[in-house]
Amino acid sequence: MFGIASSLVAPMQIGDLIPRGSRVVVFDRIYWVFLVLGTLVGIVVIGYALWKAYKYRDRPGLEDEYDRPQLGEVPQGGGGGRKLFLSFSLSAIIVISLIVWTYGTLLYVETAPAQETDALQVEVVGFQFGWEFHYPNGYVATSTAGEPFRVPANRMVSLTVTSKDVFHNFGISELRVKSDAIPGQTTETWLRSDEPGEYTARCYELCGAGHSFMTADVVVMEQDAFDEWYANTSADGGSNTSSNGGS
Ligand code: CUA
Repeated sequence: MFGIASSLVAPMQIGDLIPRGSRVVVFDRIYWVFLVLGTLVGIVVIGYALWKAYKYRDRPGLEDEYDRPQLGEVPQGGGGGRKLFLSFSLSAIIVISLIVWTYGTLLYVETAPAQETDALQVEVVGFQFGWEFHYPNGYVATSTAGEPFRVPANRMVSLTVTSKDVFHNFGISELRVKSDAIPGQTTETWLRSDEPGEYTARCYELCGAGHSFMTADVVVMEQDAFDEWYANTSADGGSNTSSNGGS
């Protein structure tokens, strides 16, 4: 038995079990692992309880069948504590494995941008009530001017999030991105989308009367289309290819 177990474990390191990829992939994996394990444990526990309730239900002849403890007598149990030991050990193994695995997975989420050399660095600045996206070339897309937050598909986008005024929280739920935007401080997060698409970034911290309107369009573009668009942006004037709205 141990031979089989070790041959399964030996070539497989904890790193192989950690899901990699976009945040969507990682958080979906966490969701499914917890859902499946939780359902399995629930079925075992509830099934066992129901089975015991049925087995020891009140019926004529029960007293003769089982040597039930009397009032004040300590129950002896069947297997000298083996069941208790087994259930404790199984629970401990499951819980500790889950903690280690989840910690490793979240550690990957935390450290993923550092492992990518060609990440696009964008500073996200919240204000009442909109978002600014500061690109490395100095171009700033402002949501209240109708300028979307454009990012390339299939590339790590490293975000540094802060705020100009009060506490906000930057989030794109479909891409599993969420990070505090706090004045005077920065928080780090990242996003990555395998395919082009359009999403909505929102504020997730009540910040005033315009909180629920504090959105920004997020456009994930093909790498070529993004490069072409980005080459036409500059520090002083928004994007030349679009209709220069707002500036
Ligand atoms: Cu900004 Cu809510």
